[in-house]
Amino acid sequence: MSTVAVHAGEQRQKPGDSITDPIFCASTYTFRDTQSVIDYIEQEQPREEYGRYGNPGERVAERKMAALEGAEDSVLFSSGMAALVGLLMAKLNSGDEVIFFDECYHRSREFCAKHMARFGVKTIQVPACDYDAMEAAITPNTRMLISESPTNPHMSVVDLDRFADLGRRSGVETLIDATLATPYNLRPIETGVDYVLHSATKYLGGHNDLLAGMVAGSKEKMEPVRNLRGIMGAINGPQNVYLLLRGLKTFELRMARHNENGLKVAQFLDGHSRVEKVYYPGLESHRDYEVAKRTMRGFGGLITFLLKDADWRTTADVIDSVTIPRIAPSLGGVESLIEQPMVMSYFNYAPEDRKKFGIPDNMIRMSCGIEDAEDLIADLAQALDSTV
Ligand SMILES: Cc1ncc(COP(=O)(O)O)c(C=O)c1O
Repeated sequence: MSTVAVHAGEQRQKPGDSITDPIFCASTYTFRDTQSVIDYIEQEQPREEYGRYGNPGERVAERKMAALEGAEDSVLFSSGMAALVGLLMAKLNSGDEVIFFDECYHRSREFCAKHMARFGVKTIQVPACDYDAMEAAITPNTRMLISESPTNPHMSVVDLDRFADLGRRSGVETLIDATLATPYNLRPIETGVDYVLHSATKYLGGHNDLLAGMVAGSKEKMEPVRNLRGIMGAINGPQNVYLLLRGLKTFELRMARHNENGLKVAQFLDGHSRVEKVYYPGLESHRDYEVAKRTMRGFGGLITFLLKDADWRTTADVIDSVTIPRIAPSLGGVESLIEQPMVMSYFNYAPEDRKKFGIPDNMIRMSCGIEDAEDLIADLAQALDSTV
């Protein structure tokens, strides 16, 4: 995978004989003469035309990410949410229905339930990993089955064989948001899922320094998505693409370390007397451990845990006492991040809604970066011990 991450999608000899792909700061692309415009329009001459339809660096990133994913094609967007919006707007019509496993990133669910509804698309949510409930909810209008795997922040792991099979048997397309797993840990396309989506802001970029999103699938299925993106303009600027390409070079090395740190920190938390519960699919105590072991190469760097007998303030005290992870939303970068979902993402929700979403006051979410696991563990230990 490292060879793919370093080389795939790139020309061997690049403009200016540079080893890296240049940053083309161009909003538009010139034609030598009228005949070259006509050749381009007749598709005989693949090339750039106008920046909203793509830029050279973006095409390199798309080829590289499709290769990493084992997909025919991928389309890059300006953020993970833009990728989801682009995909659903390209695929759904008024009267269609989509079914979600309910533990999805809250903005994804909000987009579907609140905004797609304004265009006549109905969103149905069923409990995460309840395949029978999902099957029962399918109607002749169902167009897409959607889930994350693992889910954020509960870390439920979807049995991809069952999920893909359900879609195939029902004649309904399937989408997995594999942001938390990445192609290093999970292979949805190879399992028969139609689309895989990533917030490339997270592990693919990997350095907490950019926003990007991507959807991958077959060439045929991606074509309308690419066309709509050209109209939406949810494109990446050339500098942003350069950062993404640079981040992708070390993708495999980083993922191996995120997996190692995630498992070590989760095991430490699991054995700590102040911790009530740890959500990490690499722990035997996790509900989906068997599915995770069968379907995932590693379990990533994200860990969610509950503090024992802690109200929101005591929980916040632990977060305020760590010295290495920074307090921030997001995940998947080289720097460890920590947050209290009740405060960071759900502060303005009513307590009963937080309960419904499974976000208790004593929940902490930590994204393990690539620091030394021993340092992260020592830091968490001092924060837990000093705030009793
Ligand atoms: C699982 C998942 N999918 C999608 C997104 C949206 O990605 P972005 O922030 O790049 O728009 C996020 C963001 O936090 C996420 O966690």
